[in-house]
Amino acid sequence: MATTSDPRTLPFTWYSDEELLRRERRRIFARSWQYGGRADQVAEPGSFLATDAGGIPLLVTRGSDGVLRAFLNVCRHRGAILTEGCGRRETIQCHYHAWTYGLDGSLRAAPRSDREAEFDKEALSLLPASVGTWGPFLFVNPDPAAEPLADWLGDLPAILARDLDLDAVSFHSRVDFGSNANWKVVTENFLECYHCPTAHPDFSAVVDVHPDRYVLEPHPTFSSQHCESRAGGEHGQFHLLYPNTGINVFPGPANLSIGPIVPTTPARTERYLDYFFAPDADDAWLTEFFAFDEQVGREDTALVESVQRGMAAGVLEQGRLLLNAEPLIAAFQGWVADQLTG
Ligand code: FES
Ligand SMILES: [Fe+2]
Repeated sequence: MATTSDPRTLPFTWYSDEELLRRERRRIFARSWQYGGRADQVAEPGSFLATDAGGIPLLVTRGSDGVLRAFLNVCRHRGAILTEGCGRRETIQCHYHAWTYGLDGSLRAAPRSDREAEFDKEALSLLPASVGTWGPFLFVNPDPAAEPLADWLGDLPAILARDLDLDAVSFHSRVDFGSNANWKVVTENFLECYHCPTAHPDFSAVVDVHPDRYVLEPHPTFSSQHCESRAGGEHGQFHLLYPNTGINVFPGPANLSIGPIVPTTPARTERYLDYFFAPDADDAWLTEFFAFDEQVGREDTALVESVQRGMAAGVLEQGRLLLNAEPLIAAFQGWVADQLTG
């Protein structure tokens, strides 16, 4: 089992096993904080947002009482996904048999239930989950008794604030993408820049990826990477908030992207990134920024899909980390193993 002083990776079978993914959903995604969208999507009383926590469907609402709440987005009748998208509504009605819930999660109406000898509406409220905000970001946790979001974030907001003022950026756009690789392969690829000189020539031309100046920093609930532009003076930060929220701040004009790394099957991962920039960001710079980011993304997709195929070949039981270059992978794998076995 990988620990921070153990150079062995997790067993490669952990990257293709259905049963292990079910265990990850129960023991990791069902009880940790994950990026779920933007706070402004549920700013107004009477608004809702369908979102997801590692494949667990969630519904965030802001009631007419102004209270932000989260629920499992699964109908108590026969388990349909209750609703999709976001918007404003007084109630949420299931598209299957029209069971209707208040934004506070209570079951208000179930057609023909009055013909039942016994039907306890009270016992059929939506199951609660947890929701919290950090600046413009909305975080969700399927666990109704989750520890406060602020405790999970720890020092991360203060570290981010060194290089970026969250009040000075606003939402620009969302980009969806995915890859044919296990979510841990995708996450681990994000946790080292050992591959940067080989695999990201454009990135490495802009960012100083020398091991003495590209800083890797483990924390209890997140991992941080700090870098500087080769031109000097401009700082960048890349964070993984455990288990699966990536946060990127590239050196240069104010920018941030954030989003979850979501397993859909053991060998498929879906992602999106919400991009934030200064409201007066230059259009030509934005075009260049997105082209650069897409290029790095394409390079990473090829890498993780290659790793997935190599692991799935079944010829190696596990790999061997370089602890000086990949300590954040060792820390992440240790954390994952603790959650699954602890
Ligand atoms: S499954 Fe929702 S009303 Fe039947
Ligand atoms: Fe990469």
